[in-house]
Amino acid sequence: MKLSLFISSLLAMIVACPNLAESAGSWTYRDPEGPDTWKHHYKDCEGHEQSPINIVPKDTFFEPGLADLVVNYEKSVSAKLFNNGHTVQATFLTGKSNISGGNLTSHFRALQMHFHWGSENSRGSEHQVGGRKFPLEIHIVHYNAEKYPSVSEAVDKGDGLAVLGILVELQVQDNPVFDVMVDNLDKARYKGNEVILPSLQPFSFLPHDIAQYYTYRGSLTTPGCFESVQWFVFNHTFPISQAQLDKFRDLFDSEKQDTKKLPLVDNYRPVQPLYGRSVSEASNALLFPVARHQTKLWIAWDSLMTRQYFMKQQSICALYQPQ
Ligand SMILES: *[C@@H]1O[C@H](CO)[C@@H](O)[C@H](O)[C@H]1NC(C)=O
Ligand SMILES: *[C@@H]1O[C@H](CO)[C@@H](O)[C@H](O)[C@H]1NC(C)=O
Ligand SMILES: *[C@@H]1O[C@H](CO)[C@@H](O)[C@H](O)[C@H]1NC(C)=O
Repeated sequence: MKLSLFISSLLAMIVACPNLAESAGSWTYRDPEGPDTWKHHYKDCEGHEQSPINIVPKDTFFEPGLADLVVNYEKSVSAKLFNNGHTVQATFLTGKSNISGGNLTSHFRALQMHFHWGSENSRGSEHQVGGRKFPLEIHIVHYNAEKYPSVSEAVDKGDGLAVLGILVELQVQDNPVFDVMVDNLDKARYKGNEVILPSLQPFSFLPHDIAQYYTYRGSLTTPGCFESVQWFVFNHTFPISQAQLDKFRDLFDSEKQDTKKLPLVDNYRPVQPLYGRSVSEASNALLFPVARHQTKLWIAWDSLMTRQYFMKQQSICALYQPQ
């Protein structure tokens, strides 16, 4: 409802004042239409469950009851790689790839993956971990296909979306998984350019270990900033080489004929306040010596008792059994 209202008011604006239409709805990552100003046209951007955030591992709530994330991606999908001026996005054209598990109550269908990156290696990711930024972040976006008929219905609902965040780190060698993107980026160099990727393997973009993740309630990181996202940010990173990363920095934020075009870089939103939200951590750390997570286990124990999260005394005791 919110979205359709928003769209109709946007349409009304476009119809009423065509000259202003562009500036009224447009947003960028730079002044004068940078992230601080988004809230002027997109009210939700000043909400209290916004993304991205700085994840502070020592403050995360260790939740032993969180299920593994179940990733049901088709081995290969065809996709349309598209430069929309804000990012380069691969929209999946085929299939029923989906995720479930974690904190999700149903199957969330994979729609697209896109990227956020910096002009320098010291920045680019949207999420930070303990204040650390990464040179690139991958987002794989899913919507609640069991509950909503389409993504436009789901996009502004509290249980509408689930996004996987993959933090990317530099390594010396090329990562062959990135080749399918990198080799096609020159065909998506300018805003509006698109190219079909006949065989994209979305699963291959996940870190080798997806059992450890952070999860929290948040939002889209671009306008309209709807607070509809259950976020999953993996603790394990994914590699890219410098040469591959540089290919992303060769993209432009405008159309080819545009005289003002600038490199498409630093397309990340700054981290947002938590406003009392907690970040949960799923981990296979229980398999490691208890000492490593002792503090977290005690916090978990405390909240088990007070919040009665887990009913079976048995499973609680199992947490404390040395191997
Ligand atoms: C989720 O993926 C599985 C495996 O590909 C498939 O059998 C199932 O139909 C999918 N469910 C939805 C709701 O897309
Ligand atoms: C899990 O989902 C419930 C219901 O949507 C929500 O209240 C809770 O905060 C979620 N937990 C996490 C870790 O996000
Ligand atoms: C992964 O988890 C460890 C242990 O909590 C933490 O020190 C590290 O910063 C985390 N890294 C990322 C990228 O989340």
